[in-house]
Amino acid sequence: MPQQGAPIFASRTRASSYDACSIGAGIDAETARLSAQVDLFWEKERRLYESYGLGAARRVVELGCGPGFVLRHMAHEFPGLELHGLELDPDLVVRAREMFAEESLDVTVREASILDTGYEERAFDFVLVRLVLEHLPDPERALHEILRITKPGGRAVVVDNDFEMHLMASPPVPELREVYSAYCRAREDEGGNPLIGRDLPLLLRETGFVDVDYDIVAAHSAVLGDEIFSRSEGISIPSRLVQDGYLSSSTMGHLSRRWRDVVRSPRHAQIRQLHVSAARRPTI
Ligand SMILES: C[S@@+](CC[C@H](N)C(=O)[O-])C[C@H]1O[C@@H](n2cnc3c(N)ncnc32)[C@H](O)[C@@H]1O
Repeated sequence: MPQQGAPIFASRTRASSYDACSIGAGIDAETARLSAQVDLFWEKERRLYESYGLGAARRVVELGCGPGFVLRHMAHEFPGLELHGLELDPDLVVRAREMFAEESLDVTVREASILDTGYEERAFDFVLVRLVLEHLPDPERALHEILRITKPGGRAVVVDNDFEMHLMASPPVPELREVYSAYCRAREDEGGNPLIGRDLPLLLRETGFVDVDYDIVAAHSAVLGDEIFSRSEGISIPSRLVQDGYLSSSTMGHLSRRWRDVVRSPRHAQIRQLHVSAARRPTI
């Protein structure tokens, strides 16, 4: 439960614990953060998705595609694919469509829920669901829909966080632990599961997928620089946690000062990871 004041979200019946307008500092800031978060991991994700057969696929969909930054990479780098995106939030659907139109990219975006996509059965060779399941009160239902729309022998790839293993720093920043506890309480109050990363292979297997695989994709500031980390992490989400009563302003103050000292120190690092699990729909 929130530490101060009343919770603004306390329902387990919401369709999702993610709302681009309210999770951080508004939809423009959140769109910019999502873009940076894609850039942070894309090189490694692309290699992993290729190893899962992305390049050889024909019809590909990203469910919960947000403003469309992963699909944009795919459209530029895999021009032979027939690309589709599905997104629940109408504002993000508009943003994705506008970006694809501006860049003359042939990506079809549908406004619908991952729980009831409206796609025909066995429609796609490759189904990507990135940073969505962690926000759903019923990820099992979403996974059954993912299985339904995947072709027999086709691949589903699910990517999520696990907030016990999220952003790390060197030298260590102990306040991060409190921020993640607060973040987990906020998302859990909204019906999400911010620790779902560790369960992804189990969930895929329980849904009926086979050939289940699991990887962790990691980004390190000594390799990528600090700037991309500050754009993809930022302070908008912790600030929102303070505003909503999940995090004390004094912890936020300590965190900001400690973080500034870490980034200014000549020998420092930021590390972040994503959990990725891939599996096939059985052929019979
Ligand atoms: C953290 S964003 C990730 C966006 C994108 N996949 C990416 O990796 O940049 C989560 C996205 O899932 C969408 N979403 C949440 N619940 C959904 C649902 N039930 N059906 C479809 N999309 C959903 C949100 O609107 C949001 O765009």
